[in-house]
Amino acid sequence: MRSYVFICFLFCITTTSSEVTPVVQCIGQQFDNLQERIEVSPCGKGRCKLSKGTNTTVTFKFRPKNPINTLTNDVFADIAGLPLPFLGVTGSDVCPYVTRAEDGTPSPCPLAADQEYVYTNVIPVEAFYPQVNLRVHWALNDGTSDVICFEVPAIITGGKRKLQIV
Ligand SMILES: *[C@@H]1O[C@H](CO)[C@@H](O)[C@H](O)[C@H]1NC(C)=O
Repeated sequence: MRSYVFICFLFCITTTSSEVTPVVQCIGQQFDNLQERIEVSPCGKGRCKLSKGTNTTVTFKFRPKNPINTLTNDVFADIAGLPLPFLGVTGSDVCPYVTRAEDGTPSPCPLAADQEYVYTNVIPVEAFYPQVNLRVHWALNDGTSDVICFEVPAIITGGKRKLQIV
């Protein structure tokens, strides 16, 4: 009986911690409940591990303060102070991929103020990316300001075979 409890205890801790993405606020900005609003999957504890040849899914839950007509991905990787864009993602249109949080139905722009929306993007971790530590900075920008923004420390790692064993 005791060992069952112990196993469940370990399992629950592991499950819970793997769902929390170690995101932080962008400099000079403050978004409520950022940890609950952003999910990077798969990630890792202190640092997201982006494995070459796999896809990383990023989910934003956001609630605009004002009506929104346009929304673009403002995302880059900060590698030792050097900002590198994500090919095909940086500057791309967010609007066609937004859904309503309450029922998951598509909700292209314009978006209403004070409604909950969800945006999901799948990023392939390309084989040619350098294997380095980096910091991902990702904002959804409406043309004048960020509707939500996060940063997360990450590392690009080699082939997925190694990680599957772990
Ligand atoms: C990554 O996503 C793309 C597009 O959805 C898909 O074609 C590809 O098979 C995925 N790759 C892996 C390794 O899951």
